[in-house]
Amino acid sequence: MRQIQVALLGLGNVGQAFARYVGTTGKRDSPKLTIRAVADSSSGLVLDPCEDADRVLTFKEQGHSIGDLACGALITDTRAFISALSNAGISVIIESLPTNIATGQPALDLLTYALSLGLNVVTVDKGPLLHGFEALKEAARAANSGFAYSGTTGVSIPAELSGIRVFEIAGVLNGTTNYILSEMQERGLPFDQALLKAQADGIAEPDSSLDIEGWDSAAKILILAKSLMQGRAELSDVSRTGINAGTQALIQTASKTGKVVRLVARARESHGRLRLSVAPELVGSDSRFFSVRGTSKLAVFRTDSGEITSMSRSGRDAIAQTIVDDVTRVTAGPIY
Ligand code: HSE
Repeated sequence: MRQIQVALLGLGNVGQAFARYVGTTGKRDSPKLTIRAVADSSSGLVLDPCEDADRVLTFKEQGHSIGDLACGALITDTRAFISALSNAGISVIIESLPTNIATGQPALDLLTYALSLGLNVVTVDKGPLLHGFEALKEAARAANSGFAYSGTTGVSIPAELSGIRVFEIAGVLNGTTNYILSEMQERGLPFDQALLKAQADGIAEPDSSLDIEGWDSAAKILILAKSLMQGRAELSDVSRTGINAGTQALIQTASKTGKVVRLVARARESHGRLRLSVAPELVGSDSRFFSVRGTSKLAVFRTDSGEITSMSRSGRDAIAQTIVDDVTRVTAGPIY
């Protein structure tokens, strides 16, 4: 079995879920991943011989930061932490720092630096891609490093899309809002209670306004568009309407006509420009989005060769497996 040594930069919900997943579950045909270094926003640590990953994880789950560890090997400068990884024989850095959609920092500079050192990078953080998509790709190309970001787009980009023209993307890309809408529609739950359930299940962002105001969907459709379509755009170019308690009125309208409400993100090319939007839509049974319930997600890519779809689930194990798949891909050969 292939062995891959990885470092975690970010030990919040996603970092912890990934560490628990590779320690216990994993798919049988996946390579064996060993967590050799960890860092949160305060400090980093190359693990042996000082601490093992399980102990550090338990410490984090108890609400401490890595900097509180009584350990002589702590590195308090994140760039120095990244520099130490290659020397320790670690080939992949997995980044899941808190998302900063306003500037992408500090992750954008850290990932550019890691790529320039020849480290493979897997990120689930949308911020750096929103603000430095081209720069990150270029840094990866220049150093022949692998770079993968499937955890930032809601669904994985199908391999069949490589080399064909995509002219439109539509997707239900946010599990939290789809779950909330499903609970409101199928169980009659009020918006606030459905949101609390989504938070308890760990699918909502720590700042749930990112989900319900449509920011998360907007970021995902923009990253998909940057990856697959021509034309430039910023997050501020995405026309964005989220969901709230008032969406109940739309749900009532939908149910009178046998439809459902979904938060749909769209991207299309028009005269060399990208048109991007996120908004609740009434969806009938003739739409592929009709049966996308709960925390499921689905994107439809319209291409010169017809329609291609990609589906995904939300939740801790699903994102952990997405990271494992990306790690497997970046270590199989350079991709950027
Ligand atoms: N909060 C996001 C969602 C998960 O609900 O889809 C990470 O993208």
